[in-house]
Formats: sequence, C-alpha cells, structure tokens
Amino acid sequence: MKTFHSIAELRTALKIERLQDKRIAFVPTMGNLHDGHMELIRRARKEGDVVVASIFVNPMQFSANEDLERYPRTLKEDQALLEHNTCDYLFAPSASEMYPDGKRSQTQIEVTGLSDILCGASRPGHFVGVATVVTKLFNVVMPDCAIFGNKDYQQLKVIEDMTRDLSSNVEIIGVDIARAESGLALSSRNGYLSDDERSIAPTIYQTLLWAKEQLLEGRASHADIREQAQQKLEAVGFKRDYFEIRAQHNLLTPSEEEKQLVILVAAYLGKARLIDNITVELP
Ligand code: PAJ
Repeated sequence: MKTFHSIAELRTALKIERLQDKRIAFVPTMGNLHDGHMELIRRARKEGDVVVASIFVNPMQFSANEDLERYPRTLKEDQALLEHNTCDYLFAPSASEMYPDGKRSQTQIEVTGLSDILCGASRPGHFVGVATVVTKLFNVVMPDCAIFGNKDYQQLKVIEDMTRDLSSNVEIIGVDIARAESGLALSSRNGYLSDDERSIAPTIYQTLLWAKEQLLEGRASHADIREQAQQKLEAVGFKRDYFEIRAQHNLLTPSEEEKQLVILVAAYLGKARLIDNITVELP
C-alpha cells in the first residue's frame, strides 16, 4: 500500500490508474481503524479494481467543545491494518493540506433540513463539516464509488442526498453495522470507555432490540416506547441525548402508514457520546 500526504501526489498516482480504466472504490475515515472500517475496505475490494482509503480527523466537523484534540490518532497501526486488508492507497493529509487557509473552508456544503435534526441538533455545524470534507475528498480521489457505514445512519443519508442534489457521479454504498459480540457497535469512541462503562455500553443495542420488538408488536405508542427506552438507558448510567423513531427515507417523524422505520439513539456514557440505530420493516 502506498501512503500519500499530498493531494498532488495522490492525484498523479490515481490518474495513472484511471487511464487504465480501473474502477476506484473509496473509503473515507478518521482513522483509529477497527473491524467496522475493515468491513468497508472489504466491500470496496469487491466493488473496485483499486481501493483508496483516507484518514483525516476533520476539524471542520468538530465544534469547539468536542473531542478533536483527544480523538485517537494511530497512523502506524492503521496502515498495518489497511495493508493487511489489501488497501492499495492511503491518503492521510495534514489539516493545512486540506484547509490551507486555516481550520475551515469558506465554501461550505449544507444539506439543509437533514443537517439540523437528530445528531445535527446536538452537534450544530457537524454535518456541514462532514458534507464539505467529503466533497473535497471526492474532488481529490474522484472515485467511482464510495463506501459508508450504516452505523452513522444520518451521515450516510446526508451523503446520499448531497451526491444526488449535486449531480455527483460517485455511487454511494452503505454497509451494515459491525458489532462486538456484546452487541456494542464498533466505534473509535469506544476507546474512551472505562471497563465498567464498557460492560454497560451494550445496553444501547439491547434497548434498540427491545424498541424494535415493541414496534413489531404494535401495541405501544411511539412516545411510550421512546420514553421507556430512555429510562432503560438512564437506569444503567447513560445520559440522554435522543432516542427517536423515524422514517428511513427522510429521517422525519413517520406518518401512521409508514412501514420503513429506523430507530436512532445517541447517548452519553462517561466521556463518550455513543450512537447506534436499527431499521424496522413493519408488516
Ligand atoms: P469514521 O467515524 O472514522 O467512520 C468512517 C466510516 O466507517 C463511516 O462511514 C462510518 O459509518 C463507518 N463505520 C464506523 N464504525 C462502523 C461500524 N461499527 N460498522 C460499520 N461501519 C462503521 O464517519 C467518519 O469517520 C467521518 O465523518 C468521515 C465520513 C470520514 C468524514 O470526515
């Protein structure tokens, strides 16, 4: 695997691949890679002739009080893992390579509406940072397809809507959530958990499974399910952010007839803000 830190050098290498009609599959990440990320790499291997990953802890998607400084940076280990999973190119730019004028870009991409709800309500500006950096990365890599995890369900929706709205030629592919045996969704932020918190954390998935069962049984109201779920999480030590039942296609409150639902949760456990989700297809 070849690692590039400069946009110009990566462009030159990928231009040669493109001239040979190779299909480029791209996996953007912020590093501290785990098996969830590797699922995306393995999918990219199936989708493309050339696999490109990026590692960039994007300052623009973190607000001032968030974990930008302490976000884990483990380039050496990440390179070994990517190499082992037969990634061809890694793009690992510095912040000044991506944002020569400082922390942010003056030009911003916003998927309006969708960026302000759920995680966007708790993290103002977050999805503008995500959409802008993904657009920049797409412009650098010019992939045929890009792979994202369902773990960040709203992020995947933002990217799907953005590429459609901007008539982008990049095919967006979603991959299922990779979980530990306990049910806990793999995440770089799980590293913030103490041993005690780690044993509590799987409650988030158990609560999603419980809520899904409630929806399928169809007796309790959405409001009751949400409140009881929050109480289950608080009972073991989580602090609430949101627990919502939404329509899969637009992430808004579903109509009575809506069959394709998704339950989304964000909750704090100690220093970590954990997110997870589960889809529900009503009969
Ligand atoms: P990061 O959190 O590193 O995640 C990179 C990709 O891995 C995302 O598409 C995310 O959904 C996926 N992923 C993480 N954990 C996963 C799991 N347990 N199962 C399946 N997929 C998982 O998301 C970002 O970085 C950034 O916002 C980024 C898109 C790179 C823009 O900066």
